[in-house]
Amino acid sequence: MSEIHTFLKEARLFPPPPEFSDKAHVRHLEEYREMYARSISDPDGFWAEQAETLTWQEKWHTVLEWKVPFAQWFVGGRLNLSENCLDRHASTWRKNKAAIIWEGEPGEIRVVTYGELLREVCKFANVLKSLGVVKGDRVGIYLPMIPEAAVAMLACARIGAIHSVVFGGFSAEAVSDRMNDAEAKVIITADGACRRGSIVHLKANVDAACHSIPSVEKVVVVRRTGETIEMRGGRDVWYHEAMAQASATCPPEPLDSEHPLFILYTSGTTGKPKGVQHSTAGYLLQAAMTSKYVFDLKEEDTYFCTADIGWVTGHSYVVYGPLANGATTVMYEGAPNFPRPDRLWDIIERHRVSVFYTAPTAIRSFVRQGDDWPNRHDMTSLRLLGTVGEPINPEAWMWYHKVIGGERCPIVDTWWQTETGAIMITPLPGATPTKPGSGTLPFFGILPEVVDKEGHKVPPGQGGFLVIRKPWPSMLRTVFRDPDRYVDQYWKRFPGSYFTGDGAREDEDGYFWIMGRVDDVVNVAGHRLGTMEVESALVSHHRVAEAAVVARPDELKGQALCAFVTLKAGAAGSDSFAIEAMKEELKAHVAREIGPIAKPDDIRFTDALPKTRSGKIMRRLLRDIAAGSQTIGDTTTLEDFSVLAKLREDEE
Ligand code: WT7
Repeated sequence: MSEIHTFLKEARLFPPPPEFSDKAHVRHLEEYREMYARSISDPDGFWAEQAETLTWQEKWHTVLEWKVPFAQWFVGGRLNLSENCLDRHASTWRKNKAAIIWEGEPGEIRVVTYGELLREVCKFANVLKSLGVVKGDRVGIYLPMIPEAAVAMLACARIGAIHSVVFGGFSAEAVSDRMNDAEAKVIITADGACRRGSIVHLKANVDAACHSIPSVEKVVVVRRTGETIEMRGGRDVWYHEAMAQASATCPPEPLDSEHPLFILYTSGTTGKPKGVQHSTAGYLLQAAMTSKYVFDLKEEDTYFCTADIGWVTGHSYVVYGPLANGATTVMYEGAPNFPRPDRLWDIIERHRVSVFYTAPTAIRSFVRQGDDWPNRHDMTSLRLLGTVGEPINPEAWMWYHKVIGGERCPIVDTWWQTETGAIMITPLPGATPTKPGSGTLPFFGILPEVVDKEGHKVPPGQGGFLVIRKPWPSMLRTVFRDPDRYVDQYWKRFPGSYFTGDGAREDEDGYFWIMGRVDDVVNVAGHRLGTMEVESALVSHHRVAEAAVVARPDELKGQALCAFVTLKAGAAGSDSFAIEAMKEELKAHVAREIGPIAKPDDIRFTDALPKTRSGKIMRRLLRDIAAGSQTIGDTTTLEDFSVLAKLREDEE
């Protein structure tokens, strides 16, 4: 019965509404198919044409140099990303168009036009120069979601400094790990961040982190909360004071196409997060192009992506993609449920948002809070919805479609990764009929395939590993200062193809269904974490002997973290009170080491961890145990889990 039910659910097909298609950038599936076929059969010609949409200071001579797995795109070209996002708009009527509409958690609103943003970016680029930052230097950004975050990123891009944004929810320890790996010269932070009605002390975290980051020479501090903080003489500089002195003239530095734009740390299968390194031209091109086609951006749109700039989604789809298109991007500082569960609906109503992009975990929590909250608001301005970050269960998809989209808005379920830089598998909203839970078809130039462990394509309907067969412009170029890890992690498993780490299946219509990670990376509430990372945090506690962390399915967060811990002899008392206290202590310890998002949901103490003869922890067994206590409501998820378990079995 339940299988038939699942089948019926998956068979639902939602063609794009004709009114939408009429005005869309791509209006028919046929049009998409033609363009796609060309992008695959003549990639050089296709990408060369697309690259014409950018402003170049010097034209490239070769589209792609591909020495597997190292790519160079638009070789010989020079351009500046901030010029593409700012100057080319500020020199037209868009000078007075809103680039950023910002709303602070306490309720302030700031509208920054393209003209103003350009001015601020030039000034801050000059501030960075005055602090000794030169092309190629790494600059850390640890800021709340405030316009200065976009200014800081674009100012780095203007002078060729490489930015590395660290999510404001990460701890001092995490800041220090990342900034040390990047050898950051300057860190840009704020006194504090407003979150759920209280203050996160960012500057205090930076102060703590800086004890162990010898490379940091200067810390620039934005005044956000106005709280009293300590300013270290000779090192710390107030943003507003430096800006008051700075000239607003700063020509965009001509940068090589391949000049690194940013490093973003993301969790992998080992204990240490890796610095995913992106390029200038290829990244910009694909961020811009996907923003245009996937979100069908038009001049009059007000576009709102809820991601934080600490994640790649914030880079590509809050800042760079929309700005490259001259669009208006809404930036919200705070928690989605503050002061009430309808904050986002309120923002949509007041700013007349037309395109809205968020994560399935958020959607599931909105479902829980009930339809009354969205129903109170007039959201008829919305014309398109998007999701990203993890598989969306068909029920949540249907809710999003009905309650938020009023059954009128197409939904784009976009699959991509920090490493891919831009959206890879996605519907085009005016062209692709959607199926709830499927990312549908590949974007132009992207050749994904589902393969077995030998790397052979599997027949439709069968689960396997998701690989990408061809290089693409916004692909990561390397792991910062660790090319071996780049090769090992992504290119060793299936030689010549990029391994995504995801399990997937392709159906008879060529639609992709992403099932989740097959490695030890988990997606908790849309945040990517390595289980090893959490394990090393746990064992750094003086009472922990050994720890194994696995994921279990969670209705709200997608996946939850379950930690199996063995304590050093005599560490835990035997009464339940002491055991609970120990669990809390360990959770707090992980929050300190990495950040609150990494706190295990369950901690189970055990005398020993199950191991193979060669001493490997039997994670599969632990996963089954962890999942066992959980009732799983959705059959699709359950099926995917059993396929995943089989795939993992092959791995182990
Ligand atoms: C992993 C990448 C890139 C944006 C945010 C996450 C999962 C992402 C989807 C989707 C199913 C998805 C994959 C992927 N994922 N989007 N639409 N459907 N799964 O970036 O932290 O680099 O995580 O997120 O497992 O590998 P990230």
